[in-house]
Order: sequence, then C-alpha cells, then structure tokens
Amino acid sequence: MRFHGLLLVVACLAFAPLRAELVLRPTRTAPTDLEVSGPFPSGRTNGFLTRDQLLALPPTLATNAMDTAVKSRAVYRGIPLVQLRSLLGLDERADTLFAVCSDGYAKAFEADYLAAFQSLLILEINGGGPETWGKSKLTGLEMSPYYINAADFAPRAGKSVLDLPEDLHFPYGVVRIEFRTAASTVDRLRLPGTASALAKQGRVIAVRDCLACHGHADFGGTMSGRPWLLLKTWSSNTNYFRRYVVKPKSIQPTSRMPGFTHYDPAVLDALQAYFRELKVGDLPR
Ligand code: HEC
Repeated sequence: MRFHGLLLVVACLAFAPLRAELVLRPTRTAPTDLEVSGPFPSGRTNGFLTRDQLLALPPTLATNAMDTAVKSRAVYRGIPLVQLRSLLGLDERADTLFAVCSDGYAKAFEADYLAAFQSLLILEINGGGPETWGKSKLTGLEMSPYYINAADFAPRAGKSVLDLPEDLHFPYGVVRIEFRTAASTVDRLRLPGTASALAKQGRVIAVRDCLACHGHADFGGTMSGRPWLLLKTWSSNTNYFRRYVVKPKSIQPTSRMPGFTHYDPAVLDALQAYFRELKVGDLPR
C-alpha cells in the first residue's frame, strides 16, 4: 500500500509542471467551491476553486481498507494536497495547512505529515461525488463538500508520544484550506526551553488532539467557542479539567466534545503540565 500510493503521487507530480497554474476565482460561485487562503504569488491571499477545476486535474486513486467515517472499504479519487499546493504556486515554505470545516473545526496538518500520509483532497468516494456521501458514521456530521484522508494510513514509528500513536487526519465537511507556516501557527504554542519534558510531550498531544476545536489567535478551530487560553485557565482545576477531557458529558450532558477515554493518567498529567507551564505573555495575540 505504501509503495503503491507513492508511485501514484510521483506520477502526478511529474505531470504537474506541464499544467497551467490553478487560477483562483475572487468570489464563491457555488456551495461546492473550495475556498483556499495563503500567500499566493499573484498577491492574492484568498480565493475559490470550483469542483470542475479540481476534477480536471490528473486524479490520484487510493484504497482505504477501512474508512472510519464511511465504516467500510473506500476507494478515493482525489488530489494530493502537496500537489494542490504546488499548483497554487506555493512551495514547502507553506509547510503547515489547516483544513477548516463548516462547523469551525480546523485540523492542522503539520509540515512532514502531508508527504508521509500522502494526504488527499477527496473528490469522489467509491465513484460517487459529495452528493452521495451522506453523513459520517462516526459523528453524524455531513461529509460534503470536501473530505481529506490519505493514500498511506500507517502511523510513523517514532511519532508516538506517551504511547499514543500519531493520529490519521480525516476531516470532512471541509470548506476551506489555509496554507500557513508552522512559524506563524503551531510553533507559537511552543514552551520555552526551560519547560519540563512532560509539558513538552503535552504540547504535542494538545496540538494533535485539542487545537482543531480550541484555536488560538487566528489559527486552529473555533468550533468549541473556548480558545486555547481558556484551557490554560481550566488546567489549574485538576478535577474539572481531567474529568472534562475524559468524559465531557459527565460535566455537561449536552457536550459536543468527544471524550478522550483512551487517555491514561500520564497523558492527562502531560496535558495539564503543558497548559500550566504555558506563559500567556510568551504567546502571540
Ligand atoms: C471536536 C471538537 C473538540 C475537541 C477535539 C476538543 N474539544 Fe474541548 N470542547 C469542545 C466543545 C464544543 C466544548 C464546549 C462545551 C461542550 O460542548 O462540551 C469544549 C469544552 C472544553 C472544556 C470545558 C471548557 C469550559 O469552559 O467549561 C475543556 C476543559 C476542554 N474542552 C478541553 C479540551 C482538551 C484538553 C482537548 C484536547 C485533549 C479538547 N478539549 C478537545 C470541543 C472539542
């Protein structure tokens, strides 16, 4: 699987220079348009791609033996995000992207993740367009208009933190892709060198598991309505913080936050240490 997917991506990249750069539309023309933002060479910082523009690109196919949202085997037709980035005239300096969903969930794809997992912007699942996708079997949320998954699904060795393997990113209901840099986003959530090793592990977990709903400044998700620094505030209330993370419904019966029931006490210690050691003054506004 790993090798097969790689060959397809290489083939597509080889074609990329022959194609005209994707031309962004200044305004949305249809609900199926994908919004993109980034430091584009034209000087634009934001624009729209139509589904037809994306369908005209050379397709990459990948098979997922068990798609967690579809709850079955799924064959994807899509565009590798690395390729989309270069067709938009950006290079690896735009090393971090955020997939923003209609409900304000915004998943960060960090620098080397895109290439390792060969993340795909999916246009068709099992031959069907978004009108056939329905709702995620995991959360009941609408999967259209765009879905991102991968062509390679194996977590990388050496990326586990406190025995938690890195997670597969598969946001659905994606409406916008932001091409950013680590320096202007996730790196700004780092702790000073003097912070404890536990807190630094906690940071990796927090960026992976919390940032998509609890953003900071102009990056990360807005879905929770509770930004990053509010988590810092709650982290000093050990009982509330830990219970909320593991079983939010035990505190707030109507909670929309997923419970992190698989966290062991060491992971909760690390998360708490991160938020406690984070200094508000060190963070950008
Ligand atoms: C899929 C979205 C989502 C993710 C991921 C998520 N949260 Fe939340 N969180 C929410 C929402 C929504 C709320 C607001 C209240 C509710 O619905 O539970 C919330 C509320 C909270 C609260 C309570 C805040 C308050 O004002 O009472 C804490 C604490 C919290 N989250 C911590 C975390 C931590 C730590 C992580 C990562 C391990 C995390 N959350 C990941 C969606 C999320």
